[in-house]
Amino acid sequence: MAPSKELLAILLFQAVGIYAQAPVYGQCGGIGWTGATTCASGSTCVYSNPYYSQCLPGSSPNPTTTLATTTRTTTRAGTTPVTTTTTTARTTTTTPSAPGNEPATFTANPNIGPGGSSFRDSPHFRVYGATSTSAADAALNMLEAAYSCFVGTLGWRSPGLSYNDNTDDDGPWTKINIYSVSTLPGAAGVMHADYATGMAWLEVVHQYLTIPGVTVHELGHGMHYHEKTWVDQGRTGAWWETVANFVADTFKTSPLCASARSQYGQSATATEINLSKVIGDSFQVIVDGSVNTGNYYEAWPFLAYLTYNPDGYSGLGTNALRNLFRQYAKNSNETPLHTLARVSNAGVPIIVGRYWARMAYADIGHPTAGQVFLSQRSRLNYANLDSQGNNAYKPKSARRPLYMGANIVPLKKSGAVTVSVSVSGATLAYTATLSIRNTSSGSTRYVNLSGGSASASVASDEEITFVIANTPANLILYDAFSLSSEVKNGLDYSVTITGATP
Ligand SMILES: *[C@@H]1O[C@H](CO)[C@@H](O)[C@H](O)[C@H]1NC(C)=O
Ligand SMILES: *[C@@H]1O[C@H](CO)[C@@H](O)[C@H](O)[C@H]1NC(C)=O
Ligand SMILES: *[C@@H]1O[C@H](CO)[C@@H](O)[C@H](O)[C@H]1NC(C)=O
Repeated sequence: MAPSKELLAILLFQAVGIYAQAPVYGQCGGIGWTGATTCASGSTCVYSNPYYSQCLPGSSPNPTTTLATTTRTTTRAGTTPVTTTTTTARTTTTTPSAPGNEPATFTANPNIGPGGSSFRDSPHFRVYGATSTSAADAALNMLEAAYSCFVGTLGWRSPGLSYNDNTDDDGPWTKINIYSVSTLPGAAGVMHADYATGMAWLEVVHQYLTIPGVTVHELGHGMHYHEKTWVDQGRTGAWWETVANFVADTFKTSPLCASARSQYGQSATATEINLSKVIGDSFQVIVDGSVNTGNYYEAWPFLAYLTYNPDGYSGLGTNALRNLFRQYAKNSNETPLHTLARVSNAGVPIIVGRYWARMAYADIGHPTAGQVFLSQRSRLNYANLDSQGNNAYKPKSARRPLYMGANIVPLKKSGAVTVSVSVSGATLAYTATLSIRNTSSGSTRYVNLSGGSASASVASDEEITFVIANTPANLILYDAFSLSSEVKNGLDYSVTITGATP
């Protein structure tokens, strides 16, 4: 469903995983806290807010275990926030660096969502209804780490700023409410938007509260909502899941989030990449929101490719996705690919063509996708072509590349060979590439087809894959939840291959 301002219920189905919080990052104080107030050797109790102090690595000259502190923060338009701290014990208060005038601690609002009396706070979040304080605290640390990465490091708009606020620097800043609940209809997590306050709030089923693939995914929706421009734009609708999974995976795996993770005791964890979908069904429309058969949850490696930008295209790189939000033509209902055409002058056909060429080995700059590829490649579905005899092949009709999709065809060879390919009879514009990988060093090279053909000398310690993508010069205004016949029009072609076989 296209996100709307009134209620944005985005559902996520997700497998269960187990995550343990490192004891060194446990709670050591706060109003109502009855547990331990001393920290494991090598860590120090650090005040975070009136409800929460935490054991952080390192020593402090002023232990804070007897802390009783009240902190009041007031913010005035256009000025640095004034923070008044009254203490009854000697304290060390660490104030995380925050962009602009953002205060270190946001104001809670129990009227966003159902509220309740059981909650725990961190500077930017409030978790209601968790089954234990340790679960709430683990979730708060994870959420703070994600906030630190996306808002602090990557400069996304703070989800503490109202959707309705047009002058961001003066606040107000409100905590994001997360409700831990026993069940949700067919979902692990949901993001809602409160129209009156312009605030996102989240619901997550208890067992998923500390699972980043669910809770950071939902926060990803929240941050995306607070970036504003994709809201109520039907043609961005399915891409919301692509973005949220990109956020969750980047939080879990990316060097971009490494310092934010370590600041809050989070470890890098396994990638969410699903190669049986991304590579096995690469012929699909690049983002396809079709019920049951679509790829919109799995298509995020394209956003990772734009972010890691291994080909160095202009406008892309670390801020690529933020650029897609900020340069979205307001209320145009354009697709994100239309925005991409303005964000980078490389051209969408070239970017998409090279993305798929690199997916031959999941060589997109992502820290772990390439390793996952090597372990799973033998199980992926590569049955894309049918032989026509005389070294000629055509795509199976059900696997012709649809709009901005591709065929990825690993070739078999023996020893050192010259591989030549020639494409003819293409029914639509395409970008084709020979993707070549050194099997001992892992290094890759990419040879373009030009005028429909290419030839490459492939050494005995190299492997080669033919990749062809459906890349029309004119972008199509399509709704990924309701694919038009235009985007479902598959690229048919004939390819002659010598020196190797599919
Ligand atoms: C990957 O995607 C396929 C197809 O959508 C799905 O059947 C499978 O369960 C997914 N695998 C994982 C690990 O999520
Ligand atoms: C091959 O194509 C890519 C994009 O598809 C382009 O960036 C590169 O310059 C081309 N290389 C050559 C040698 O033409
Ligand atoms: C492949 O990598 C290995 C190890 O780095 C290197 O010795 C070899 O020369 C490379 N092969 C080619 C064809 O470049």
